[in-house]
Amino acid sequence: MILDVDTGIDDALALLVAVRHPDVNVRAVTCVAGNASLEQVVRNTLKVLDVAGAGDIPVAAGAPRPLLAEARHAAHVHGNDGLADLGLPESTRQIEPIHAVELLRREILASPTPVTLVPLAPMTNIALLVRMYPEALANVERIVFMGGSASVGNATAVAEFNTWHDPEAAEIVLSAGVPITMYGLDVFYSVTVAAEDITRLVAAAEPGAQLAGRLLQHIVSVKGGEVRVAGEGNGDIGDAGAVCAAIDPEGVRTVNLPVRVSLGDALTRGQTVVDHRTAGHEQEGAGDHGFNPIDVALGVDGVRYAKLFLDTITA
Ligand code: RIB
Ligand code: CA
Repeated sequence: MILDVDTGIDDALALLVAVRHPDVNVRAVTCVAGNASLEQVVRNTLKVLDVAGAGDIPVAAGAPRPLLAEARHAAHVHGNDGLADLGLPESTRQIEPIHAVELLRREILASPTPVTLVPLAPMTNIALLVRMYPEALANVERIVFMGGSASVGNATAVAEFNTWHDPEAAEIVLSAGVPITMYGLDVFYSVTVAAEDITRLVAAAEPGAQLAGRLLQHIVSVKGGEVRVAGEGNGDIGDAGAVCAAIDPEGVRTVNLPVRVSLGDALTRGQTVVDHRTAGHEQEGAGDHGFNPIDVALGVDGVRYAKLFLDTITA
């Protein structure tokens, strides 16, 4: 598995699961601007790998901004430092002296078995990989990305933050011809850790479990009136759910549907337009067939993934 992150509260939860799950070999982690600046994302990622007790996993810095749009960070959700301002100690880990796209290419081509790519951020790095080294995709078994929505947005009325942040990159990746699972907002909020479990994690002596608890406390504190997160005091694991979907795909219900990203119109820019129709009509009549069929997660067993998350974090 290779994760592309904009660490970020829930990216941190995702890293904890991926690093700790016995069936996952994290070959690399690549960083991109999104929730926070690229520099802050790199610092946060290294800090989390330290707390997770990760081995010597190569990390590289990638794009400092989207392909076309300006970077727009999300401090209102993730705190000023992108990690709930918890003040974790700086890491002494060193990043690879190469660009994230080079690390992606190196580790994908070096893997003896096809790699699962798990983008949890704006997909700028992944789009650059697709354009610079398309041959590397031959050793990518599947892309399981957190992003998009078949329904309501979060960054805007219709657009999810990662695809909104770099819509052009998302469209490049969705049309790359690799098997793709879209773990979007339709399932993103439905995997939650109950308030009492969060309390237990915060009280844990083990640093990784305690960090997960403190991050989930922050998620609860900023979720506001987000009606898609069920239960008072419960915290959604966000990006970590996409890692669960990569580990245990039976936990999501997916439908193979055409998806395209809105690029031009300001009102819908970044929206993943999911075509639920069973037959073409006016659009196809006008010769527009440019939709990319991908596996869109429309349902998730939240209890199953919450258990997977907690069992893995506290193992
Ligand atoms: O919309 C949620 C996504 O945007 C998550 O990946 C979160 O970390 C932010 O990157
Ligand atoms: Ca993220």
